Amino acid sequence: MAKQKVILDCDPGHDDALALLMALAADNIDLVAVTTSAGNQKPEKTFHNARKLLALAGREDIPVAMGAAKPLLRDLIIAENVHGKTGLDGAKLPEPTHEPLKQSANDLLAETLRNSDEPITLVATGPLTNMAIFLLSHPELKSKIAQISYMGGACFGGNITPQAEFNIYVDPEAAEVVMQSGVPLAMFGLDVTLKAQLFDEDISYIENLGNPVAKVMADLLKFFALTTTPPFLAGPDHVEGVHMHDPCAMAYIIDPTLFTTRKKHVEIDTKDGLSLGSTVVDYDEVSGKDKNVTVAFGVDLPRFRDLVYKSMALFSKD
Ligand code: RIB
Ligand code: CA
Repeated sequence: MAKQKVILDCDPGHDDALALLMALAADNIDLVAVTTSAGNQKPEKTFHNARKLLALAGREDIPVAMGAAKPLLRDLIIAENVHGKTGLDGAKLPEPTHEPLKQSANDLLAETLRNSDEPITLVATGPLTNMAIFLLSHPELKSKIAQISYMGGACFGGNITPQAEFNIYVDPEAAEVVMQSGVPLAMFGLDVTLKAQLFDEDISYIENLGNPVAKVMADLLKFFALTTTPPFLAGPDHVEGVHMHDPCAMAYIIDPTLFTTRKKHVEIDTKDGLSLGSTVVDYDEVSGKDKNVTVAFGVDLPRFRDLVYKSMALFSKD
């Protein structure tokens, strides 16, 4: 099967970790580089976490570069309450054995795209700061971007404020740069990621696979499940799974048929106030503006869970 080249820009982060491991396991993805963003934790921690995850998977051959230290204009907000002090609390990961790259994320992105003989898919699972900086500093390389598949935003609602999702809220100006870039975009907001759930039996299955990667991922999922918030209207016997936000953006690249999507106009509210960081999705197409983003609204959950199973099982093969 032809492999598509992918670069993951992430802020690991428990769900980022699964997105990364799914990319490594996919037989139709060639993960050529990883860049890290500041979001779930401070930049040096998400950078270290990405390197530890690649060490865990035996893939330190993949270059990892640290991105911007903070959002374009605003102070950095981190999600220590969700991902813990390390950003990957709840599991023990091996230390990287390779020296950290001194190269910046922007330079690694530029070098990788410039030297590629085919367009590369960018998957972004943290704030879009690195994506914005790259798009502004290398407009000549836009044609080498196949698409940007990102976890962020919501057509309806939010999780860091009532109207904004964390990744967009951390750097709304960067998100607006990406929305205006003209690059093909696929958005995996809370509308779909809150439906992409893994349950206790899934975590047990993963844990019982017996390979060290799956064991760590199961431990990370158990920790991440502690911060999952069940919908307040759910009935007393409702069981809410753990929300797999970032894996949606990667699963779409592996198998786009898992998702129901619609092209819509999306822009970002960058004004301070109640709706700062809101992804304003023209759901009813009343604006007449260009439909710049493929927005995901639904997921085939049984097949999504099956893809996660298959991804984790692949690490059992030596
Ligand atoms: O709102 C969910 C997003 O915020 C995910 O990317 C998660 O990793 C956190 O960064
Ligand atoms: Ca993330």
